[in-house]
Amino acid sequence: MQDLQAIVERALADLAAAPDAAALENAKARYLGRSGELTALLKRLGTLPAAERRAAGEALNAAKARLEEALARRRAELAESKMQAQLAAEALDVTLPGRGASRGGIHPVIRTWQRVEAIFRSIGFDVADGPEVETDWYNFTALNNPENHPARSMQDTFYVDLKDAQGLALLLRTHTSPMQVRYARLWVERHRGAKRMPPIKVIAPGRTYRVDSDATHSPMFHQVEGLWIDEDVSFADLKAVYTDFVRRFFETDAIEVRFRPSYFPFTEPSAEIDLQFAAGPLKGRWLEVSGAGQVHPQVVRNFGLDPERWIGFAFGSGLERLTMLRYGIDDLRLFFDGDLRFLRQFA
Ligand code: DAH
Repeated sequence: MQDLQAIVERALADLAAAPDAAALENAKARYLGRSGELTALLKRLGTLPAAERRAAGEALNAAKARLEEALARRRAELAESKMQAQLAAEALDVTLPGRGASRGGIHPVIRTWQRVEAIFRSIGFDVADGPEVETDWYNFTALNNPENHPARSMQDTFYVDLKDAQGLALLLRTHTSPMQVRYARLWVERHRGAKRMPPIKVIAPGRTYRVDSDATHSPMFHQVEGLWIDEDVSFADLKAVYTDFVRRFFETDAIEVRFRPSYFPFTEPSAEIDLQFAAGPLKGRWLEVSGAGQVHPQVVRNFGLDPERWIGFAFGSGLERLTMLRYGIDDLRLFFDGDLRFLRQFA
């Protein structure tokens, strides 16, 4: 049992000195493992004379209990210091300033787009969307621009070096007017066979493209097309609807609206719509915001409808123009420069 005393002392020292979990488990194996030193003594118990066996057994068990207790204590210490080391390594400096999440804002032109939609929806207009890469047929031919007619060159066009599935020339739409034809033809198709086709009443806001660039023109810009076709929609309805629209859009009744005779191949008669504010910085100037007119009989025919029965108006207004007038912006290029000092004013 001299042996035992020495083994226990060495074991306690080894366990206490183990620098990490692996070393600790190795030390445990050396004393308490299957071929550990203490285990060897326990195995030898049976070989002792019966008179010594009891005292030896008690001493061995007490030694084993001390080692196990020392082992558990060292395990806990190592686990604690490992956690402390990890906490120290992963420490956060809570005094650092945050990275911050900057808030996005709605672009002023898109604000206008949303306002226009809300106003027209409130008087029963549907809102439609269509392709920006358009066929020559929808963009020009269906809108009564005859092939090779000089009216086509009123709009300098971006042609696309591809044809559609039917071999038709493709281009970036120069206006939202092709949506008149797309929407009306779908509408006619959908109500084919009905006793009475419901009126066509739609706006189509979206991006349009022209080879044009200066303070009031951008190669990409936005328009909103309007179309109302029924059996008895007149030019007077156009005046009422549009005048009501601008008063709601600019939130004032102090606006005069003027319909100035003009020419578009897809309307007859045609007009430019001008506004004049009775107050504010733009007071007293006539400002053009839209083309409009009574839809040409040939275009009504291209809708798939009989122009003797169906009649109505269309308009196409510039969303940048409406936005510039609403906020008093004098250079259209500001919308597309991406300068946050400008854009934040509307966010
Ligand atoms: N599409 C024409 C343009 O971009 C604007 C226009 C004029 C649209 C008369 C219309 C209309 O619907 O009736 O210049």
